[in-house]
Amino acid sequence: LYLVVEDDQQIVGFMGTAIDWYHYDLHITNIGITPSYQNKGIGTYLISTAKNYARHLKLRSLSLEVRVHNVSARRLYESLGFRNQHIKSRYYLDNHEDAVDMQANLLR
Ligand SMILES: CC(C)(COP(=O)(O)OP(=O)(O)OC[C@H]1O[C@@H](n2cnc3c(N)ncnc32)[C@H](O)[C@@H]1OP(=O)(O)O)[C@@H](O)C(=O)NCCC(=O)NCCS
Repeated sequence: LYLVVEDDQQIVGFMGTAIDWYHYDLHITNIGITPSYQNKGIGTYLISTAKNYARHLKLRSLSLEVRVHNVSARRLYESLGFRNQHIKSRYYLDNHEDAVDMQANLLR
């Protein structure tokens, strides 16, 4: 599932997901909101849509990776039910930053 959010015919946000049928997990591969549109609830809306889609498919979890230093995004994901699973060392190709692997359990 790939979604974009438009305002006045401009894309201001997007989210990509991929289904992992082996683990019954919906993985958020990318999510981004244009800076001037951040902190208005669009990211929360996209993630809740992903949750509904995953539940519709009877998947067990929603997951994503986030940069260790992206404190504001990590806080948002925690508030939406994601919990830290483990660190993926040197995960990002551009600066070799570590990623935190986060997962929200949909069975609870
Ligand atoms: C991380 C990101 C996707 C979040 O999307 P967003 O649309 O800004 O997220 P929201 O607006 O739903 O929530 C952000 C904060 O705004 C708050 N908020 C939501 N609606 C609000 C509103 N109407 N008024 C004021 N605050 C609001 C939320 O409570 C949240 O607060 P918190 O950080 O204390 O938890 C976005 O900021 C982004 O693209 N960042 C840069 C790229 C990035 O980091 N991508 C993530 C890679 S994993």
